[in-house]
Order: sequence, then structure tokens, then C-alpha cells
Amino acid sequence: MGSEQPIVQYKDINKIYHGGNVAVEHINLTINQGDFVCLIGTSGSGKTTTMRMINRMLEPTGGTILFNGEDIHKQDPVSLRRKIGYVIQNIGLMPHMTIYENITIVPKLLKWSDEKRREKAEELMKLVELPDELLDRYPTELSGGQQQRIGVIRALAANQDLILMDEPFGALDPITRESLQELIKELQTKLHKTVVFVTHDMDEALKLATKIIVMDKGHIIQDATPAELLQHPVNQFVRDLIGEERLIQARADVTTVGAIMLKNPVSITPGKSLPDAVALMRKRRVDTLLVTDDNSHLKGFIDIESLNNEYRSSASVADIMQTKIFYVQETALLRDTVDRILKRGLKNVPVVDENDRLRGIVTRTALVDMVYDTIWGSANNDAPIDPQPEEVTP
Ligand SMILES: Nc1ncnc2c1ncn2[C@@H]1O[C@H](COP(=O)(O)OP(=O)(O)OP(=O)(O)O)[C@@H](O)[C@H]1O
Ligand SMILES: [Mg+2]
Repeated sequence: MGSEQPIVQYKDINKIYHGGNVAVEHINLTINQGDFVCLIGTSGSGKTTTMRMINRMLEPTGGTILFNGEDIHKQDPVSLRRKIGYVIQNIGLMPHMTIYENITIVPKLLKWSDEKRREKAEELMKLVELPDELLDRYPTELSGGQQQRIGVIRALAANQDLILMDEPFGALDPITRESLQELIKELQTKLHKTVVFVTHDMDEALKLATKIIVMDKGHIIQDATPAELLQHPVNQFVRDLIGEERLIQARADVTTVGAIMLKNPVSITPGKSLPDAVALMRKRRVDTLLVTDDNSHLKGFIDIESLNNEYRSSASVADIMQTKIFYVQETALLRDTVDRILKRGLKNVPVVDENDRLRGIVTRTALVDMVYDTIWGSANNDAPIDPQPEEVTP
């Protein structure tokens, strides 16, 4: 998790390339120690430009960048770069150097002893579960996934606090990519690194990031945690980038039963007579009544069948009510309850508060609508998930 200690601060950064091409404009961004920041956006939106200014591979045209509170412009670029790890796609490893030499480039520049370098390399190989034998091979003698692992640990070798990664896993197959995502996330957390990571892949960003920066046409459009981004995308561009399916899924993940239930379901108290029950059913055009005591505690239900069968032999609602009743909590998440409700094949399910007081009812129709929306996407982007209010006709 990120602390509140800033490691990188962009202060109104612009970058205009030769020929007047504005790559990024008014970039204001704070990256805290321990953050995993993902820069995401369309091609050409300025992600790489934004990232490369941190270690002065590119110089901004205007504005200031602070690294650990100091203006990077006043620091020597070479020593600055030694403090910041960098992983790029494919071409990261030097082909004429062994894996060992590759991993220890920066430690060597930092004049670590042979012994300390060897120790570090072996420790890191263990960390990513690669055998020490690979240390004496050349990059081409490793698979793409192994090479990328080496790229990652090379960035970790010099104990740099900040690591920049520009689409590091883009060219890998999905399985290798997933295992490397897990690896980098684990190492980042365990070793308390700060990572700035460029990606095109929203799933990757949602999985890795503690903070997602959405860019478009050289501007930061949104700066948010993954959860905030899913729940409150600032505009249509961000919604499109996230994708409707993920948004609906995210809504189910945060929507409670209480948010979609129909309020004021038809109910009756146990002391009422059967003719009263029949009259109420007729009036409200329902074939089931929920039974609650005077304090609204849910006690059971009666339905039209038992009412018909026992109309003559019984006197009150209490005599015929069924007390085995499936109900759900108002605060339960739909995500966790939908399956259970649908599997039971009930037409509707009473909803209670934490004191078992009746609060509403969830209809099967509303749930089915929601599940269909989740699978196929809703027709209207901004349609609420709530069903149209409707009479409860089980
Ligand atoms: N050396 C350069 N000279 C001129 N314009 C450049 C240069 N490098 C990048 N640009 C332009 O700056 C803008 C931002 O480029 P940048 O490489 O930062 O985008 P990106 O978001 O990393 O894109 P991608 O996802 O394709 O890698 C683009 O319009 C690009 O054409
Ligand atoms: Mg790029």
C-alpha cells in the first residue's frame, strides 16, 4: 500500500516535441512511496513520455518534477538513473552479457564488491524461482518469459526504490504474463518498492495498481484507485476504457440487496383473521402475504393455497402460517446472494434488516434482469440497475 510520503511529484509538466507536437500538458501527479501506479490510455496519449521524464530520459518543456522532494533538473541524470530501475519490453537485456552480468549492471556501476554482487544475483534468482545455472547463460539461451523475469530482477538488483516499467509484459502469452504479474505484485509488496507501470490492458491495471492514471491526448483524465475508477468513472472516455461489462460487474460487486429491493411489501400480522387475509390479498392482488409481528419482525408467510385448504378449520393467520422462510439481509451484496436466490427458484425473497425486521422484497424478475444485464450488457449506458417499481405479483 502507498504511504503518504511522496517519491515523485509532477508540477504542471508539459512536453512539446520538436515541430510543436504537444505530447503532454499540465501534468500534475503525486506518486507516493509504495504506490503501484498504472498509466493507462490510448496509443499516443503520452504515457511513455510522462514516465520517461522521471529519470530524465526525456526533459520536460515546462514545469518541475521532484524526486524525493528534490528538483530532478538539479540532479545529475546519470546518478539519478542509478536510483531508478527501468524495465522495457524485450530489448531490456544486453545480448552480449551473461544473465549474471545483466543483473548486476547497476550494482557494478555502484562499485559493489564481486562477492556482494554474486550474493545479490543468487538471492534474486531464488526469489523468482529460477535456477542459478541460468546466471552464466546469455539472454538468447532463455525463453521469453525467463528473460522478462530477469528484466524484473535486474531492476530490483540495485535496491532502487522506484521502478519504471513500460508495457513490460505486452508481448508475452497470457499464462506467462499472468505469472509475471503475480511475481511483480508480490515483489513490489514484499520489498516495498514503488512502481510506475505503463499498460494498455485494463485487466492488468485493475489487478496490479493501487492508483490508476487514465490518460488521453496528453492529459490526465482520471487519477483514482481501481475501486474508485470502477465506481465513479469521470466520463464516457473512461467508461469506454473500462468497458461496460466490467462496470456492471463492479456494480453487482457493490450493490446491496437493499438497493434493488421493492419497499413496503404486503404483510399481515398473525392475529388477523383469515377473511382479513383474503381481503388484503384481493385488494393488493397478491397470492402470498408475509407475516410480521407488531414490531415488523418477519415471522413467516401464508399463501393462497393453504388459505383455501384451511379456510373453514382455522381462525387466524397464525394457525396457517408457514414459518420456514428464506430471507436475505438488506446489507448483503447482490454478488453474494443472487446465485442462492435464483437457485432456490423462489419468485421473491423477503429482505430484513439486522434485527430481522421486514424491509422489502426482492423479486426474481428484478434479479433475472440484473443477471442478463451482467451477461449481455445493458442497452442504456446510464440505466440504473434498479428494476422499475412494480406491484408484487408472485
Ligand atoms: N520523439 C518524438 N518526437 C515527436 N513526437 C513524439 C516523439 N515521441 C512521442 N511523440 C508524440 O508524443 C505523443 C505521446 O507519445 P507517447 O510515446 O508518450 O505515447 P504513449 O501513450 O506511450 O503511446 P503508446 O501506447 O503507443 O506507447 C504522441 O503523439 C507521439 O506521436
Ligand atoms: Mg508508450
